[in-house]
Amino acid sequence: MDYQGILNVIEDKIQGEKLQGNVASYIPELAKIKPGKLGMHLTSVIGEEFHFGDSEERFSIQSISKVFSLTLALLKEKDEIIWERVDVEPSGDPFNSLVQLEYENGIPRNPLINSGALVICDILVSHLDNPKKEYLEFVRRIAGNATIDYNERVAASEKEEGFNNRAMINLMKGYGNIHNDVEEVLDFYFDTCSISMSCRELAQTFVMYANQGKLLKDQKRVLSEVHTKRINAIMQTCGFYDEAGEFSFRVGLPGKSGVGGGIVAVYPNMYSVAVWSPKLNEKGNSTAGMRALELLTEITGSSIF
Ligand code: DON
Repeated sequence: MDYQGILNVIEDKIQGEKLQGNVASYIPELAKIKPGKLGMHLTSVIGEEFHFGDSEERFSIQSISKVFSLTLALLKEKDEIIWERVDVEPSGDPFNSLVQLEYENGIPRNPLINSGALVICDILVSHLDNPKKEYLEFVRRIAGNATIDYNERVAASEKEEGFNNRAMINLMKGYGNIHNDVEEVLDFYFDTCSISMSCRELAQTFVMYANQGKLLKDQKRVLSEVHTKRINAIMQTCGFYDEAGEFSFRVGLPGKSGVGGGIVAVYPNMYSVAVWSPKLNEKGNSTAGMRALELLTEITGSSIF
């Protein structure tokens, strides 16, 4: 498959379509990003690399980090304990919604919405001596890249404004589903969201989920096949909040978005792909990112469906 040729076609089409959207502004630091950025990088499971545009520029991965948090939690805690505290159903609601939490006794619908990720962060705080340090070490290990880091300004900016997340975690604390100090868990959650990575780095990290849980460089297993299947399944059904159905319908791959404008998608046993364009639709997903991935599966004529 001529992936580079296909990526070039996608770049041309996206530039021509002039897709609209708004840069996330509820985290003030994110509002400073230039809206016209566009990059894409595809890493195949045999180690080929294809890319265009701003694919090497780092951006705030935001909710994409929820996949790393879940991965680390699955390595640290028994499945039955995790899945008692977080469900695996699509929410059909926005990423920061509180409504279901009260009806459902403080049990979040899934680990890829904010409430679910907060519970996962609580589990990590219980298991890690130094959550911030060990989390970063883990991300660096699966990325094979020791330069990946938090963006302290982004984390601080969200800490000042994160009223919804603060409401959510306190509600769950009331239901007994947060075991640690709420401010400690919130701080850690904001740190995880603040990690900066480029499309290249994201694609090279997520290829593990396309490679049955093994790192590409040495084929060392990080995740079991069952955990890899489950994470991909949760990305498929829950990775885009109330747009998970639309993403499946248009793209047909498991994936995860973030309000920094990044989207990663995984084609098991084939490739991982990351795209970045900061203009978001009203659901908080990158407009051009979704379109680029739709074009990828349409032009290649293959998706998991
Ligand atoms: O907690 C928040 O609202 C952000 N740190 C992350 C939200 C996010 O990326 C949702 N994604 N589309």
